[in-house]
Amino acid sequence: MGAELEKDAVERAYACWAPVYDLVFGAVFERGRKACIAAAERIGGRILEVGVGTGLSLPEYASTNRLVGVDLSAPMLRKAKARVDQRGLSNVDGLAVMDAQHLGFRDAAFDVVVGQYVITAVPDPEATLDEFLRVLRPGGEIILVNHLGAEAGLRSTFERSFAPLARRLGWRPEFRWERLVRWAARRGGVRLIERRPMPPLGHFSLIRFARL
Ligand SMILES: C[S@@+](CC[C@H](N)C(=O)[O-])C[C@H]1O[C@@H](n2cnc3c(N)ncnc32)[C@H](O)[C@@H]1O
Repeated sequence: MGAELEKDAVERAYACWAPVYDLVFGAVFERGRKACIAAAERIGGRILEVGVGTGLSLPEYASTNRLVGVDLSAPMLRKAKARVDQRGLSNVDGLAVMDAQHLGFRDAAFDVVVGQYVITAVPDPEATLDEFLRVLRPGGEIILVNHLGAEAGLRSTFERSFAPLARRLGWRPEFRWERLVRWAARRGGVRLIERRPMPPLGHFSLIRFARL
């Protein structure tokens, strides 16, 4: 469907973003990243970061947590590997090229699954969330931070008209909150704990789901 994102398009987009990603998206997403990490560290333990990108968040975690990062984009992940080496991040147990929709981990392997600015960039968000839940232990949390599309008004009109170009850049600007609510209701075994507005402009949200 034209409205969806293709995996190849996502890989192409992030191969282009990789060299300039930190410059363009480093500072602007920083508060969201920090809030996401603080929420993840309230649980702590084994943390999987899906769509870890260039690994901007990795040095921010306390060294007592064990981290694994995966990403579809090899060029983005190469940057993350360089960061881990340069910063000597010995609590990073692994970084791997992997599709969020087909995670190569056993069931209930992680205490927390983090997705920062990724759920609207994956080809199939609902299948991806199913996979997050599979690798999460009962009582663990999925923690997302993401832009969510406006329900109505000018912003919604802009997001819908910008959507075709945004897909080429690697994300869906019009992705609605209700899609996450519908996923949780249909999937079962998961409870929404929190949705908190985040900067810039409160157009982003921190979202926490617990696995029951
Ligand atoms: C907007 S970037 C966010 C990167 C990082 N989390 C951050 O906070 O800067 C989205 C990332 O999701 C990755 N991604 C998109 N689709 C994916 C998929 N199906 N599986 C794994 N990673 C994916 C992209 O390659 C990209 O690195």
